[in-house]
Amino acid sequence: MSDNPKTMKAWVYTSAAGGVEKNLKLVSDASAPFPEALPKDVVLVKVHSSSLNPVDYKLPELGLLSRLIVCTPASPGLDFAGVVAAVGSAVTGYSAGDKVFGRIEPNKYGTLGEYVPAKAEGIALVPEGVSLEDASTIGTAGLTAFQCIVPNVKAGDKVFINGGSGGTGSFGIQFAKAVGCHVTTSCSAKNEELVRKLGADEVIDYTKENVSEALKAKGQVFKLAVDNIGSTPADLYKAADHYLLPEGKFMQVTVEMSLGGVANVTSRQLRPSFLGGGKRKLEFYITKNSHKDLEQIAKWFEEGKVKAVIDEVFQHEDAPKAFEKLKTGRVKGKVVIRGSA
Ligand SMILES: NC(=O)c1ccc[n+]([C@@H]2O[C@H](COP(=O)([O-])OP(=O)(O)OC[C@H]3O[C@@H](n4cnc5c(N)ncnc54)[C@H](OP(=O)(O)O)[C@@H]3O)[C@@H](O)[C@H]2O)c1
Repeated sequence: MSDNPKTMKAWVYTSAAGGVEKNLKLVSDASAPFPEALPKDVVLVKVHSSSLNPVDYKLPELGLLSRLIVCTPASPGLDFAGVVAAVGSAVTGYSAGDKVFGRIEPNKYGTLGEYVPAKAEGIALVPEGVSLEDASTIGTAGLTAFQCIVPNVKAGDKVFINGGSGGTGSFGIQFAKAVGCHVTTSCSAKNEELVRKLGADEVIDYTKENVSEALKAKGQVFKLAVDNIGSTPADLYKAADHYLLPEGKFMQVTVEMSLGGVANVTSRQLRPSFLGGGKRKLEFYITKNSHKDLEQIAKWFEEGKVKAVIDEVFQHEDAPKAFEKLKTGRVKGKVVIRGSA
């Protein structure tokens, strides 16, 4: 922003028809966030790196609905790590030059821009000894895993994580272990070594076994089930009557974006047990920014209890390739994109 504080370099889209990655344009004159007066509760961050989440393409690709949430041209991306460039008048605890990481709510200034405006509630200081690249993986996936798991368990509880090898799952396994839980997770055989390294005690290969049946065979032992996959297997929630403790909870993290997927999750939520629905407590989860939660995750990083799992790091100019990779649905941990430098 030094030459012209009103503009910056950014990947932007105005439409996502046919896939957001096909519509992204790298421009050097994108409007910069609040060049004259930063809102009082906002921190302006020069992005060093960002990491992608499925919502970064799912939201723009919602069509008309997405326009109600984000006006275009917009830059995608919610998660970042970088250096504070300026702070709003009511912000305390940060000053220019501090290294921070975190998550923004969807808006037109995404993390694929040179600068990102972030509410103070959505950021925390990068701890000593942790790289900005690693810190940029935390945002959405870290908060999601933390908020689904940590408030719902105590040491010694058994947790099942459906989908342990992606962004939310790889953090989820590590957070549950940091709290002292026993972790069972599902993944394909190629990812077993990874999830075991992250701390998983038991692994169910979803390509070879029926996950619901494998869980039922263990009896009512789990305090918590976290579903990062959606509708595979379709009866995962109903089967929870047999594998979750009576006081156990089922956290539904995602909905598969298909008619069948939405119908499945709606039925999970609305069908009463006397009509064949599940009996266990079900919560549909939505990520919330929380400085306190980010600070705890940062502490675990600093203590070496939690590590970033990075599948691949892309240069800023290769952002569309990073989206292509994420959209395969096969990513191990996170996909990171370097800042525009
Ligand atoms: N509600 C919210 O606020 C919220 C917040 C964050 C994320 N989400 C949603 O949560 C979901 C997960 O997010 P994410 O970032 O973890 O996604 P991701 O990183 O893209 O997940 C990819 C991983 O899922 C594994 N996988 C795919 N199908 C599987 C199956 N049937 N069983 C077990 N593992 C399977 C893949 O492993 P293989 O290659 O072995 O298949 C891959 O490692 C997404 O749908 C996302 O939109 C929602």
